[in-house]
This record gives sequence, C-alpha cells and structure tokens, in this order.
Amino acid sequence: MALPPTNLQTIEAHMLELQSLHPTASGAFTGLFGDIALAAKIISREVNKAGLADDILGATDQENVQGEIVQKLDEYANDVFMKCLGTRGQVCIMGSEEVADPVYIDPGEGNGNYIVVFDPLDGSSNIDANVSVGTIFGIWRRKNRLNNLGMEDILQTGAEQVAAGYVIYGSSTMFVYTAGHGVHGFTLDPSIGEFLLSHEDIKTPFNGKIYSVNEAYEPRWTPEVREMVRALKYGRQTKETSRKDAPSRGSGMSTRYIGSLVADFHRNLLYGGVYLYPPYEGKPQGKLRMMCEAAPLALIAENAGGYASNGQQSILEVTPDHLHMRTPLYIGSRDDVLWIEKTLSESGDSI
Ligand code: AHG
Ligand code: MN
Ligand code: MN
Repeated sequence: MALPPTNLQTIEAHMLELQSLHPTASGAFTGLFGDIALAAKIISREVNKAGLADDILGATDQENVQGEIVQKLDEYANDVFMKCLGTRGQVCIMGSEEVADPVYIDPGEGNGNYIVVFDPLDGSSNIDANVSVGTIFGIWRRKNRLNNLGMEDILQTGAEQVAAGYVIYGSSTMFVYTAGHGVHGFTLDPSIGEFLLSHEDIKTPFNGKIYSVNEAYEPRWTPEVREMVRALKYGRQTKETSRKDAPSRGSGMSTRYIGSLVADFHRNLLYGGVYLYPPYEGKPQGKLRMMCEAAPLALIAENAGGYASNGQQSILEVTPDHLHMRTPLYIGSRDDVLWIEKTLSESGDSI
C-alpha cells in the first residue's frame, strides 16, 4: 500500500497558509471556505448519482426568478449552499441565482463580514445527459454595519470581491478559487472526501486556439459581433492584436461549446481561448448574470493572467444595478479578449 506524498494540501490548509500572510485575519474567511467546500462535496455526491434517483433527475416544471425552467438539482444545490453557508456567522447576506431577493442572515455571535452571491448549479439543462455542470460563487465584504445593511453592500463591483471560485462536477470534481494570491485548483478525492491541491497557481495562456460561443444565435447578433466572430474563425490580422509578436492564427480558431459556462470556462482557462456570450436580438444584455457568473469568473480569469470584458470595458469595473443584472461576456485569454473588446468598441457595437 502506497503512502500518500508528504505535500498533500486541502483547501482549508491552503487557506490557513494564506491567512498567515494576513496577521489580522480572524479565520472567519477560512471557515467560510470550509463551508463552501462542504456544500460542494454534498452537491458533487448528488450530481454523481443523479441518474439513479428518479426524484432528483429532471425539471420541476417551475420557473426560477429568471423565467427559466428549474431543474430539481438546482433547487437541491441552492438549499445545500444556503444551509452550509448560513449557520456559522461569517455571512450576512446571500444572493442566489435561484432566489429573487437577497437573503439577510443573522450572524449570531459571528462577525457576519461577508456577502456571498452564487449560481448553485450552472449548466443544469445538461444534467440529464451526464454533461459537466458547476457552481460559481463570489465573495464581498460588507460596507455597512450589520444593523444598517442595504443594497450598497450587495451591488459592489467585481473588483471589490475578496475571493471567487467555482466547482466543476466533471469526470472528477474540482474546486478552483482565487483570493487575490493566484488561482488554485483542488481535485476531490472521493475516497477520503477531501479536495486536494492539484493545480497550483494556474496561469492561462496569453492567447488561445479555442473560441466558445453558441453560433445558433448568429442570425440575431449585431453585424459587429458577427464580423468579430468571423475574424476569430477565419483568422485575424496580427497587426490588430495588442501584441506585435502574437503568433499568426493561420486558419483561425477552433470551436468548443459545451453550453455549461463553468465547463467551457475551465477548459479555456487551462488550454487558452475565449468564451463569448454576446447580446442578441431579444436578449440585449445577453443571458449571463453579472454577480453570480460573470464577476466571479472575471476575477479568476484576471488572477490567472486572463481578462473579461462586456465588449466595452472590464467586467470587474461595472457596478451592478440589480442582483440579477445580465451582461454580455467575453472572457478568457488576455490577448484574445482585449482584441474582441477593441474590435467591438471601434466598430461602435453598443450594449
Ligand atoms: P444556468 O444553468 O445556471 O441557468 O446557466 C446556463 C448558462 C451557462 O451555463 C451556459 O454557458 C449558457 O447558459 C448556455 O446558454 P445557451 O443555451 O443560450 O447557449
Ligand atoms: Mn449559470
Ligand atoms: Mn444555475
């Protein structure tokens, strides 16, 4: 029987190491990550046996606050997150893709310093087909006293996040996070029930070969978006890139589109490339949500050397006007996203 290597590190151990860089840290933040990891393990267990459980698999026939059909596992994952995060006093407000209004929590004896906004199950329409799904979360620090909390505490920019992460329930379950000191990935070892450090300090390639977009919407895109995607496909001129020595793209990029944002983002983060969800006729702000999808993934992209834009400016600079605000999203390799932003801004495409 092989002994484990000596450098095994769980998320909590990794966070504790990080905490030692901040002597004033109370440990509440580390505890919060422990709670998120626990929720992720429970959701992972249910996702993995979804095919077995008739009562879990499939849609509920109810619509969520966004008017989309709610999958049963969406509800389950939402409940798990609410329960795991709401009981130990670190969190004062939770926002979920599945819940219309922010949920204010009584932190009891805790300091209630944090606001967590999450998409409990992303890509859930894929679940019946055994395609990867995920969880996305962003964490902010409250601005006001506990007895005076309001929308100012919730509607903060992506840049103000203290941490963000996602979990991908794929061929293995991975937890990827940033707290401003690089992006780190942990793989769940189900036999011991721990996320172990497997991808330390992830850096995404400066440019990539993959573009990920739902091209079925092409007839409803603006001419500017159509032209821009065409250039990704057929190859764009190196003189247009932000880097003079950018390699020639030859015949252009290749498409990969799962239709699960977390899975598409994760693949592009590791291999290089760009994920696009442009606005289209009928959806002038696109589909994705700023606070529970775009902003957390933008923080991860930037900490891994990538970039995220709404086509005009950095996602991280935008102040949301609503918990469920939607935004166009272009995210991934820095050079590719900067080129898209420049191309759309110069062509006058507006959102
Ligand atoms: P969710 O399951 O949380 O509602 O998110 C679904 C999102 C995202 O995961 C994916 O990238 C996108 O919807 C796919 O949308 P299209 O089917 O319009 O391409
Ligand atoms: Mn989602
Ligand atoms: Mn969702």
